[in-house]
Amino acid sequence: MKKNISEIRQMFFDFFEKKNHKIITGSSLIPENDTSLLFTNAGMNQFKDIFLEKIIPTNKRVVTSQYCIRAGGKHNDLENVGYTTQHHTFFEMLGNFSFGDYFKNEAIQFAWELLTSKKWFNLSKDKLFVTIHEQDYETYNIWKNKIGIPDKHIFLTKNKKYNSENFWKMGDTGPCGPCTEIFYNNQKNIKNNNLTTITNINKNQYIEIWNLVFIQFNQKNNKTLIPLSTPFVDTGMGLERITSIIQKVYSNYDIDIFRKLIFSISQILKINNLNHKSLYVLADHIRSCSFLINYGITPSSEGRGYVLRRIIRRAIRHGYALGVKDIFFYKLLKPLISIMNDTNNQLKKKQLKIEKILRTEEKQFIYILKRGIHILKKKLKNTKKNTITGKVAFNLYDTYGFPIDLTIEICKEHKTKVDIEELKKIMKKKCKNTRKKNLTHFKNIESQINQKPTKFLGYKKKECQGKIITLLKNNQETKIIYEKEEATVILDKTSFYGESGGQIGDSGILQSNNGTIFEVFNTKKYKNGIFAHIGILKNGKLILGEKLNAKINVKKRNLIQSNHSSTHLLYATLKKVLDKNIQKKGSFINEKYLHFDFTYSKSINNKQIYQIENIINKHIKKNIPIITKIITLNENNINKKNTIKSLYDKYGKKIRILIIKNISTEFCCGTHANKTGDIKIFHIISEYSIASGVRRIKAITGETAIKSFYEKRKLIDNINEIINNNDEKIILNKIQKLQNFYYKYKKEIQKSQLKKYLQTNILSNNNIKKINGIRILSKNINNIDTKKLRIIAKNLKNKEKNMIIILTTKKKEKIIIIVCVTNDLINQIQANTIIYKIIQKIDGKGGGKKDFAEGGGNNIISLQDILSELKILISNIIIK
Ligand code: SER
Repeated sequence: MKKNISEIRQMFFDFFEKKNHKIITGSSLIPENDTSLLFTNAGMNQFKDIFLEKIIPTNKRVVTSQYCIRAGGKHNDLENVGYTTQHHTFFEMLGNFSFGDYFKNEAIQFAWELLTSKKWFNLSKDKLFVTIHEQDYETYNIWKNKIGIPDKHIFLTKNKKYNSENFWKMGDTGPCGPCTEIFYNNQKNIKNNNLTTITNINKNQYIEIWNLVFIQFNQKNNKTLIPLSTPFVDTGMGLERITSIIQKVYSNYDIDIFRKLIFSISQILKINNLNHKSLYVLADHIRSCSFLINYGITPSSEGRGYVLRRIIRRAIRHGYALGVKDIFFYKLLKPLISIMNDTNNQLKKKQLKIEKILRTEEKQFIYILKRGIHILKKKLKNTKKNTITGKVAFNLYDTYGFPIDLTIEICKEHKTKVDIEELKKIMKKKCKNTRKKNLTHFKNIESQINQKPTKFLGYKKKECQGKIITLLKNNQETKIIYEKEEATVILDKTSFYGESGGQIGDSGILQSNNGTIFEVFNTKKYKNGIFAHIGILKNGKLILGEKLNAKINVKKRNLIQSNHSSTHLLYATLKKVLDKNIQKKGSFINEKYLHFDFTYSKSINNKQIYQIENIINKHIKKNIPIITKIITLNENNINKKNTIKSLYDKYGKKIRILIIKNISTEFCCGTHANKTGDIKIFHIISEYSIASGVRRIKAITGETAIKSFYEKRKLIDNINEIINNNDEKIILNKIQKLQNFYYKYKKEIQKSQLKKYLQTNILSNNNIKKINGIRILSKNINNIDTKKLRIIAKNLKNKEKNMIIILTTKKKEKIIIIVCVTNDLINQIQANTIIYKIIQKIDGKGGGKKDFAEGGGNNIISLQDILSELKILISNIIIK
């Protein structure tokens, strides 16, 4: 029977667990504390700091399955989806990692064993090909001489050493190194290959299945490559691709989960042709969009939100191409949830939220889409030489908001080109006029805006007036914003806090005197001190130079402030309860919770957690004022103390200090509660290690904490009801008893099942023969785990008398034999003597004790012959 995708994932884990790797959960799709990446694009991302030797790993060998997004950023496959059988915007990457432990030799041997061993993936060696950089002699030597791959299966890349297909980089900066890729040739008849360069590889015929990267450098910037002192291994294998090979379908879209998903989508949309490429696109895009929203991304006009928007819009366009008339994309989430069956049921928990966001986005876009397609189709009819001018594509985008990538894709379907060169020229000219260079990436905003830093008044004022000094639409400067358009508004003054120092940015509204309302979803702070309000214009118009009232969402801000002040109390308390030397490693604060990372190498017990909570809640009860002071750094000190010097370099001469009486004094730019009493209550919800020597505490405060207590109380009430008691001791006692009872009962069921099995399948007279008065039970059972076979044999040995038990199982080309002798016979005949005789006949190895022995060997004679041979051997021994 075909293995399904979950079984294949599990085999990967099992294999590497056997090779002493620890299974680690994949990380979020949004890289934490890493601005160099838009999305998690490889399994190694979460280990970046280990590769860069900033933290010491707890385990030197790990294995993961990582959700990845490859849309936007360095690795972008968005445009390929629907046109190839192997590309996705969202996929799962399996990987094994060595952190300064094994290197090229073992990494290659592990890969080869997993792929080709009969016990594992059992792929034909003839179909595997590898690529190597032509100067990587060590890797070449391993493949050629240790693994024994013939030369015609090796492709050498000839590009520049550190800039080729065989040199993997996670992004523009970060860990990188030479790699060797393994390809599978899916053609039936493999012709003799005399190819010498990777460029000759035909991607439909050769499917890249595994990339083994030998991380040896840190790419600092586009020129500098710094060697690392320890070499690491990072491997990545697309789960969907390997599944397509093991399931022998050779297209990711034909593997089990995709077939089911595509079928469900076709039912919802009433499409008969299950091989329509737009169905592939929808199946792929609903996965990426749902998981991105699940990880907190919402569609917007910049950064991650913009990529999400592009994917949603592309999906909607493909729905439209299929002839769908209604809002539909959100409906595809339901089948996805049941088919994906993702480990934490994450999507199910957020189903309503994800559906709502997808529905709203589609509603907003459908008008733009219909209008754009209508105009484009007219142009396509009148096009000359099958080319659409850059001007037409630009106008569609600039005037009608129709995405350029959709124009290009639709034109491609009509076998028409877009004059990209002309389009680029127009864009460039437009950019020049508006003083922009690169308008597509959110990080560039700060270099584009050449204005004075924004005056932040939000420490004291929840509302203030500011003048619009810059307006951005689709990251381009503009003078006017119309209703329903998304934009970025920059004011000379604001009360909105911009995302920094672990605290999220404020949301709220910008309002004009004539009633125009701009809803701010988020506020970002750029390095040049500029605060950008990101949001959507609800009604009216926004005009450059206009004055607006900037009103933050006070309720949300108060919640954030409580969490932020609690972080300071937590830091001080941790030093008191755990160790005065602990150091802050990072924090994240929003309106719902806070988390705080710190150096500490031991685990923290419940008693310590209660103590920490208790101390903080006492500070809260005392309602201590939280005050701030601006201090000016003394020139003399600046160069003396490193800490002061680094503060000076980062923030200039004046720094802001937050003081909570004699409890905590810390440098901080964030916004805070006025008094500790505002926090109401502090409650730790989890504590765990995030890296070697670094722990994270996650906590909640105020109403959120109270709500959580109520939920826990509800849980306890439900338990009380089931147990029918409310005395704590009795409840715990009963649960313990139930637990014990459960395990006992489970064991008994297993025992009785085994008994039944023995009675019906093994102890039948057909399997028992008498030789010299001794009962010989011999039986071959296939498709059984050796462990189970041992249990069965031992069970029989303990129950029966006057019996020699011989159980065998055949696994591929091997045979495993278990021999047991009941205690009343071991003075006359021993299990290890029997096994020793047998293994000589089967060309194998084995051994054991008097009552139990085991052996295995190559199947050189048939099982039936072995069994009769055994009988002779046993009768000989007994006669002696
Ligand atoms: N980081 C490498 C890749 O993504 C191997 O995992 O291909």
